[in-house]
Amino acid sequence: MDYEEPQFFRVMQYAATADRDVIDMVSGNPDWEPPEALRDALREYAGLDPAAFQYPASDGLPELREAIADRRGVDPDQVVVTVGTGEANYLAMARAFERDAGDEAILLDPVYPYYPGKVELLGGTQRLVPTARDGGIDLAAIREAMSDRTALVMVNTPNNPTGAVYDPDAVAEVVRLAERHDALVVVDEVYDRFDHSGRFESALAIDSPNRIVTGGFSKSLAITGFRVGYAITPPEHADSLRARHMLVNVTGPAPSQYAVHHALQATEHEYFAASRELLSDRIDAFTDALEAAGAEYTTPDGGFYVLARFDDFPGTMANVERLIDEAGVAGMPGETFGTAREEWIRFALVTPRAREAAERLAAYFE
Ligand SMILES: Cc1ncc(COP(=O)(O)O)c(C=O)c1O
Repeated sequence: MDYEEPQFFRVMQYAATADRDVIDMVSGNPDWEPPEALRDALREYAGLDPAAFQYPASDGLPELREAIADRRGVDPDQVVVTVGTGEANYLAMARAFERDAGDEAILLDPVYPYYPGKVELLGGTQRLVPTARDGGIDLAAIREAMSDRTALVMVNTPNNPTGAVYDPDAVAEVVRLAERHDALVVVDEVYDRFDHSGRFESALAIDSPNRIVTGGFSKSLAITGFRVGYAITPPEHADSLRARHMLVNVTGPAPSQYAVHHALQATEHEYFAASRELLSDRIDAFTDALEAAGAEYTTPDGGFYVLARFDDFPGTMANVERLIDEAGVAGMPGETFGTAREEWIRFALVTPRAREAAERLAAYFE
């Protein structure tokens, strides 16, 4: 079977083997330090008794589940610790399809490319519904697209790639619509700690058996390699998520969960505020330089991606490869995020060289 494979690794590989210095703005790998407590916990873990190196509980170390439940204001029974937010999304999506409640997934366009890939993997059919011009939820379009075939609506806020922070009332309305059509809404909140607008509200505030919230620590603790995420699910879906997680993984990695738990215990708001501030400064520097270059661009309300559009230079894979070779800047082609931003290129601001990258782009498009 031919799966729709996300192209991130292809572009990263191309940039890494280029014959010149390239500023990598492809991946979503934070370049800043994790909390010190995380490093301390890893060192401590190495000295533990061998018993600590064996299978942890399948749905996560109990103390980590409790810490997540505590922070998110839910019961620990609703928390399943997963191998990254990516797995949490997969489990929740699989649950949506296994209920004999339709075969269609509504995905908001532009779309994080792993969603269509997963829908396909799960045997579902994707239906792309454009977001509003500013990246916000277009309720009328979603209402029109929903039918009794709809099993799932995927929502991601703060959004990758648009940087939109969705209006909480609009998300609540999507959940109400889903209830009417017996669909599940999966709200991916992996960027919840990067709200620059002050308007982000978790979908956990929406009380419904039809909404599952996913999240993780890859971005907020700057540890994409640790693979710790979670799903927060209403009780009626919890067994399904747990069973699939156990059958696929047995359990998640204990050292990572141990370190994340210790980091959460010790990490104050200042850590997250400092990451947000660092990103805010980069966003300003990058967009100022794009402005000076006369490019069109988005200013993210959340997350750390900027979309930019240059005259007569659509966001194709070929153009992105040209930018790597000729400007020394690597981004992601807009065409890999569905159809709505094919003219655009996405830049991840997880590099201290963001301003330099924008200056290179400005010089290239002069
Ligand atoms: C919207 C979205 N969801 C999920 C993920 C994957 O997160 P994790 O590393 O926790 O699996 C990413 C990573 O870039 C993302 O952008």
